[in-house]
Amino acid sequence: MTELRKSSRFFALLVPLVAIVAFTHYAALGAVRKSPTAAKPTHEQILRGRYLVLSHDCNGCHGGTNPADPQWLSGSYSPIQEFKIGPCAITPGAQPCWTTRARNLTPDNATGIGRFSERQLFNSLRYGLRPGETPDVVITSTTPGKGNFPANPRYLAPPMPWPGWRHMADADLWAIAAYLKYGVKPVSHHVEDSEGPPDFWASAYTVEKIGPYPAPPFPTAQERKF
Ligand code: HEC
Repeated sequence: MTELRKSSRFFALLVPLVAIVAFTHYAALGAVRKSPTAAKPTHEQILRGRYLVLSHDCNGCHGGTNPADPQWLSGSYSPIQEFKIGPCAITPGAQPCWTTRARNLTPDNATGIGRFSERQLFNSLRYGLRPGETPDVVITSTTPGKGNFPANPRYLAPPMPWPGWRHMADADLWAIAAYLKYGVKPVSHHVEDSEGPPDFWASAYTVEKIGPYPAPPFPTAQERKF
């Protein structure tokens, strides 16, 4: 069984709404594909997306130990793979308490990401917007209500680590979207919806709590030139 519950830096900022999980953050460099076009992605783009998915431990939550695993990226299968978000993550029975589940990322139309565009997947990784409930549009702002950013954003539930993924280069996010859409076989596996607060985590994902995008220029007061 893959290790599913780890600790997370940005999560500490969400206390008390938070569970304990983590993400690995790798500097992902290298331009591959500026944006999706009518043409299908290239073999190199698919391989780049695969590398990024493997190195960012997407499967640590979304399932499968390696790309040959029949459950590869097809979502949560059992309660042990679910997350408890809220005070109950620390004190069993404490309220509020939400159960969230990593979704099926394979391109199955009914149960996975098959019905979403590459742009919807890009927007989910850059802005944390739920692809099933966010229009397929180019977003040019990070302020709700401006530049196609939904006025009432429906964010992905924690612990999906999009606050980290959003700093990846555009081309890398397109490569991940391309790999999920074209490089993985569809697996029909329905994952029950995550629970969450009525504001779809809007009060948890504020700039104060997760930091700005883009990040402040280097070097900040906490950094140094070398
Ligand atoms: C720490 C656990 C965790 C990791 C690591 C993780 N995810 Fe997720 N992801 C989730 C959870 C939980 C959800 C469900 C959120 C919800 O239901 O609102 C989710 C949802 C998603 C969705 C939305 C799918 C849909 O149908 O709405 C996408 C796309 C996604 N993740 C992609 C990725 C990619 C790509 C990576 C790696 C770069 C990744 N995730 C890593 C936990 C994780």
